[in-house]
Amino acid sequence: MTTESTGVLSFPDGFLWGTSTSAYQVEGATDSDGRGESVWDRFCRVPGAVERGESGAVACDHYHRVAEDVALMADLGVNAYRFSLAWPRLIPDGDGGANKRGVDHYDRLIDQLLARDISPLVTLYHWDLPQALQERGGWLARETADRFAEYAAVCFEAYGDRVHDWVTINEPWIVGLLGHQLGLHAPGERDIAGSVRAMHHLLLAHGKSVQALRESRPEGRAGVAFSLFPHVPHTASEEDRLAAHHSDGYVNRWFLDAVLSGRYPEDMREHWEQAAGPLDFIRSGDMSVIGAGSDFIGVNYYTRRIVSARRQPADGPFPWRVEPGRADVARTDFDWEIVPEALTDLLVQLHESYGEVPVLITENGAVFNDEPGEDGAVHDARRTDFLHRHLVAVHRAIERGCPVRGYFHWSLMDNFEWAMGYRPRMGLVHVDYATQRRTVKNSGHWYSQVARANALPG
Ligand code: NOJ
Repeated sequence: MTTESTGVLSFPDGFLWGTSTSAYQVEGATDSDGRGESVWDRFCRVPGAVERGESGAVACDHYHRVAEDVALMADLGVNAYRFSLAWPRLIPDGDGGANKRGVDHYDRLIDQLLARDISPLVTLYHWDLPQALQERGGWLARETADRFAEYAAVCFEAYGDRVHDWVTINEPWIVGLLGHQLGLHAPGERDIAGSVRAMHHLLLAHGKSVQALRESRPEGRAGVAFSLFPHVPHTASEEDRLAAHHSDGYVNRWFLDAVLSGRYPEDMREHWEQAAGPLDFIRSGDMSVIGAGSDFIGVNYYTRRIVSARRQPADGPFPWRVEPGRADVARTDFDWEIVPEALTDLLVQLHESYGEVPVLITENGAVFNDEPGEDGAVHDARRTDFLHRHLVAVHRAIERGCPVRGYFHWSLMDNFEWAMGYRPRMGLVHVDYATQRRTVKNSGHWYSQVARANALPG
């Protein structure tokens, strides 16, 4: 794949070059066209829950700017777009009949993408649970997985003639951790037992929706997107090495083993039982539903996790502790270490442990808060460098045999970064929220050359 003489790194034919967004973070129009309330609309109204009291009510107004934003993507030269469907737009109360105006909206988006040769990669659940379902227990209730499978079937029926690739659930670990354990995301709960229960039901929802896809659109492909963090022991001690292994069980293996091997890892089951009590919500037959064949794994990669053995109870409910990054490693404006080589390691390890399952990098990106300069351009050299180094890392993994089929940068444009509101900027396109003016950043222009060439410059 490398042209020796020029040093150009070319990617396999058909490689997907995309960008990623999610409905609540970009759409706005939360009261338009019959959309129901989501847990995030509700959470944003809790005083202090989101910085500066911000919400996704307007966001990037992507809902009203489909033509403009699809044209922007076409100008960027990307051939794929990962976005999510808002469940409360399609089924406002979480179950019952579909809302035609919501269905029509995504019809238009999908058709316009296809008209520009941009393949849709559609996420079914990116955290905006209908509030009506939250009131019936949300992800703590097993029935929510059934409601999700019904909603998924509506989506497959409506769009499966044109959409072939589906991400069922986005980042179940983050939903469990931030939404149910630490109370930092919707629905704002702090209950360790609830968090593992919610994550199980999210995985069950994944499995049930894959079954629904097989029934209605056997030609479709489904995967799940996990937030994966490569683990590094803080020191070379046996204690820290073990701690890192167990924390890897919590963050990564719990999900990968469940979906790719149909079982939860034993070591982590024990940790969960100690921290949260009996896992009696796992019913017989669940693991074969969860493990019944995903067509690809979506990897969301941002940084690594350095872990040591727990020293005191304040370190958290598990016998490990997350250490701050190393002083000599560069950081993003969100203070996360920039470690592209850990992405190669992660992908290689995934391939070694789980075999030939195709991988999509469904998210990778960084907070760099660059604004337009006096010339109107956004000179975000750090994002270009970040992108370049991470794409080299992906290329290395492909050279080592990992079946990586595409890369989706988080994000297409600056957007609502959940509890942090609009302050962190992660887009290839800058958004001026007062005017909704979009400006392609220099990193976006650079990415565009890569996508068009299907290769990294030498
Ligand atoms: C993970 C989430 O899927 C996405 O919604 C979020 O904005 C990015 N990572 C950045 O934190």
